[in-house]
Amino acid sequence: MAMRTAVIPAAGLGTRFLPATKSVPKELLPIFDTPAIQLVIDEAIGAGIEHVIVVSNRTKPAIEAYLTPSSDVVDRVRRSGRTDLADRLARIGADVQVSVVYQDVPRGLGHAVGCARQAVGDKSFAVLLPDELMGDESLLKALSKVHDLTGNSAIGLKRVAKDQVSEYGCVGIKSEPDRNGVVEVTSVVEKPRPANAPSDLVIIGRYVFGPHVFDDIDSLQPAENGEIQLTDALLMAAQSGSLSGIVSDIERHDTGSPRGWLEAVIELTLQRPDAGPSLEKWLRSRFG
Ligand code: G1P
Repeated sequence: MAMRTAVIPAAGLGTRFLPATKSVPKELLPIFDTPAIQLVIDEAIGAGIEHVIVVSNRTKPAIEAYLTPSSDVVDRVRRSGRTDLADRLARIGADVQVSVVYQDVPRGLGHAVGCARQAVGDKSFAVLLPDELMGDESLLKALSKVHDLTGNSAIGLKRVAKDQVSEYGCVGIKSEPDRNGVVEVTSVVEKPRPANAPSDLVIIGRYVFGPHVFDDIDSLQPAENGEIQLTDALLMAAQSGSLSGIVSDIERHDTGSPRGWLEAVIELTLQRPDAGPSLEKWLRSRFG
């Protein structure tokens, strides 16, 4: 498998989540007791990733602090007898190689990915948007497989109601999905009006690229809002017939807004054997 490296763009300032994000990066907001970025890193590890590159922002030093192994904390917790928790803490930043690079100017997702060029090197890599939590690593694994088999870039897709397409990158496809959900993508447009959308298929935040995407990103002109859009690099791949998509109905939670985060916390906590049953009991007692 070619994909052993993942890029996690985490330089955004979380304006949809102010005032919480005035001092706490949104990627560190807890899903019950675990920062969202840890769940995304766990998904990457589950899909075979050995090196995670976080694209951060110098105003968010807490991300780097979280990802730096800390034997003091591990030892303190171990001495208190909480061995399982100590083991969990000892794995943070140690069960995968972690690098942090910086995007100092807010110039869009394409630019953020481009900031990881040197750290990635001449290799295929995944991009995981940390606002989105997937139920498991199956989609990322499937994207990696398609990339291995075809050499194409590969993106996760889902069907949405037509009036939701304007919240996402939206794609046009050549023919209906095969039995594995794989499609050839022929066009990509970022946040179209429903009337102009090429389909009801939108990009969810999982991508696998070959290293040539960095040349494509470098060649891009900023969009009207001044941002270098990753979608424009995808359009270049689509136009040259080298972009595949997988239409997926994977469980997915969008934690980018307070309401989406709260729903993710409730749903994912309900799934935890250690915390789910007591939360469910409390919810039932509260709401009948
Ligand atoms: C980004 C991408 C968009 C994609 C979306 C998935 O948009 O630009 O193409 O569909 O993530 O969540 P954002 O949500 O950052 O505005």
